[in-house]
Amino acid sequence: MKNYIKADEWNIIEEGFDPHLNKVSESLFSIGNGRMGQRANFEESYSGETLQGNYVAGVYYPDKTRVGWWKNGYPEYFAKVLNAANWIGIDISIESEVLDLFTCKVTAFKRVLDMQQGTLSRTFTAELNSGKIVQVEAIRFCSIAEDELAALRYKITAVNFEGSIAITSFVDGDVKNQDANYDEKFWNEVKQEQVNDTDYLVLRTKKTEFDVCTASHTTIVYNSETQNLKPVSKEKYVGQTAAIYLKQGTAVDIYKVAANLSSQNYSKEELLAAAKAKMERAVAKGFDQLLKAQIDAWAAKWQESDMVIEGDVKAQQAIRFNIFQLNQTYTGKDARLNIGPKGFTGEKYGGSTYWDTEAYCIPFYLSTAPQEVAENLLVYRYKQLDKAIENAKKLGFNNGAALYPMVTMNGEECHNEWEITFEEIHRNGAIAFAIFNYIRYTGKENYLAQYGLEVLIGIARFWKQRVNWSVDKQKYVMLGVTGPNEYENNINNNWYTNKLAAWCLRYTIEAAAVVKTQDPEKYKAILEKTNFKEEQEFSDWTAVADQMYYPYDEKEQVFLQQDGFMDKEQILVKDLPATERPLNQKWSWDRILRSCYIKQADVLQGMYFFEDEFDQETLKRNYNFYESRTVHESSLSPCVHSILAAKLSDEEKAYEFYLRTARLDLDDYNNDTEDGLHITSMAGTWMSIVEGFAGMRVRNGQLNFRPFLPKAWNSFSFNIGFRGAQLNVHITASQIKIVNNADQALEISIFNQPYTVPNGEKVITYNEQLV
Ligand code: BGC
Repeated sequence: MKNYIKADEWNIIEEGFDPHLNKVSESLFSIGNGRMGQRANFEESYSGETLQGNYVAGVYYPDKTRVGWWKNGYPEYFAKVLNAANWIGIDISIESEVLDLFTCKVTAFKRVLDMQQGTLSRTFTAELNSGKIVQVEAIRFCSIAEDELAALRYKITAVNFEGSIAITSFVDGDVKNQDANYDEKFWNEVKQEQVNDTDYLVLRTKKTEFDVCTASHTTIVYNSETQNLKPVSKEKYVGQTAAIYLKQGTAVDIYKVAANLSSQNYSKEELLAAAKAKMERAVAKGFDQLLKAQIDAWAAKWQESDMVIEGDVKAQQAIRFNIFQLNQTYTGKDARLNIGPKGFTGEKYGGSTYWDTEAYCIPFYLSTAPQEVAENLLVYRYKQLDKAIENAKKLGFNNGAALYPMVTMNGEECHNEWEITFEEIHRNGAIAFAIFNYIRYTGKENYLAQYGLEVLIGIARFWKQRVNWSVDKQKYVMLGVTGPNEYENNINNNWYTNKLAAWCLRYTIEAAAVVKTQDPEKYKAILEKTNFKEEQEFSDWTAVADQMYYPYDEKEQVFLQQDGFMDKEQILVKDLPATERPLNQKWSWDRILRSCYIKQADVLQGMYFFEDEFDQETLKRNYNFYESRTVHESSLSPCVHSILAAKLSDEEKAYEFYLRTARLDLDDYNNDTEDGLHITSMAGTWMSIVEGFAGMRVRNGQLNFRPFLPKAWNSFSFNIGFRGAQLNVHITASQIKIVNNADQALEISIFNQPYTVPNGEKVITYNEQLV
């Protein structure tokens, strides 16, 4: 746990430079715009510990799989988002001495991520070994207004000397992924060009052959005069240099306007020309105008998604940080893109798509962005249906059964640990649940005819084939699976997976009925396309759903996570010495697997998805049982426990779990922020407040609230969009105020009492009775 980030409502602030924290800060201060992003590496050279990271969304490399013992069915490669060309580079050398914060004496260091405006800035004073002191002010951003653009301004002042300063502003494509399996470089150079102080570097990924053109225009101004620049270049590297004689107390300003264009959006032949046109327009606008557009675009984003917490600055900072990073990672403009668990902040998890998107991120984007954004996330899976069918086929399934990958970039499975790749199949259910969730929220039932039903049919066929009839139990069972709790592998009858599978089968039948009634033509076309035997398949699915086996413990009266769970030694987490945790760092894997400790919500994840099926008593028994055995060693876990605790009116616990997710990265809770941020769990933090504290649900097409105010806060409020209305929900200890900007009134319910919210605002006071 760390505590060096200064509390502030809109900014993430680091004061003072500690090289030991540099990689953590590089993650925390990352910037991005959905199309590209980067870690907060320094512009100037740095010889200390650093993880260099520039990423272009959707551009990946199939790194050849490396495993100890090959299993049939493993994918050949793991698709990784690549560390791409570094466009921020500025080498500074003062009378031949390199400016490098690792070798200088650094004072007055301050790094600020301004979340309101979407900028990263840094100021510092550095004393070189020669005693020369310089002061630097730098600011940069990845433009969310025009997502192929980025810009920076870097100002350097000679504090106590006069002398010559050599500046090289460059684009460097000779970069590596630290997680390369075979220490290979993934880029080849296609071409480079340097015109009018602008550098263009076109690189091509090996194997996947994505071309990316990274361009940068440099302007250096001293004494109000733009300096002449000299191009420099070598393989995979292009830059501009200038040598300036700096008088004491004066400063030189360096401006870079940059672009990343990829062959995903342009033909390879047109790429360079498109980059030139883009750069010409961007350079004409200049840094200040691009910055203004950035500030305006972020103001609009905050209008949709801001959350205000009064009375607790650290909580306010944390929730804005979570929302900011989610908005930096995914903007929903492109249905080919998705949300990697680390976004653009690190290499871990390959930048690829996990079930995290459907189970955790969808609710956030549904409420805080235009409808198309969440829809694009669903369409992403629709477009990969063929690959999911192929994936299932490789594992021996047939008849159009679809198994979506555990980890993917392009629809193909990348993951290669058998107990996850082959067995953590609950991911399929989350994809079906997201379709249901999307329709529940938006009311857009025709999504089923458009895309949803085909996906559901593939998923339902998979579940049907994945179960088998147990003569012994006279039930359908599902053997050899891994549930969300990855601290158990290759188990039989994971309650969550069985529950989800049965639900998928029933929901697909319901969805088919909707399409059949609403769009019979399309229904017919889908039946033909999927070669669907309506009567037979529906009856098979119903049989499985009706006769699914669910492990249950009569003594504890709880749903059992899996067969045999009670054979384990039941020592609760509270009786585990703190020195033994986190288990995944202190215990052997073998010991973890044999223990009763649960990595993340599993049975409780199911109770969260299907909450209306359970009464409070059942929820409480299961919550108490599983919470006392859960170590929350996945960042995705505490938010689900927080929401359920809120539902059980255990406000203290709900708040405690919320705190664990909200500042997970800011306080480096798990000592792993240096690898990158936990982007997908950030959506869980948002859910803890909206679904937990505000108790927001959509039932029968209406918003329901069941709010409470955490003791530490004076009030909280959030913006959401719902079926064409933009709402602000403000909650205090005794009141909920809803501002509705739509012309038509909105029917809602608070503690199950119906209310009408007209255009304008409605204040509802709730008292003990209502609660
Ligand atoms: C979790 C998975 C999750 C993955 C990526 C793992 O630690 O157990 O549920 O999908 O991280 O976030």
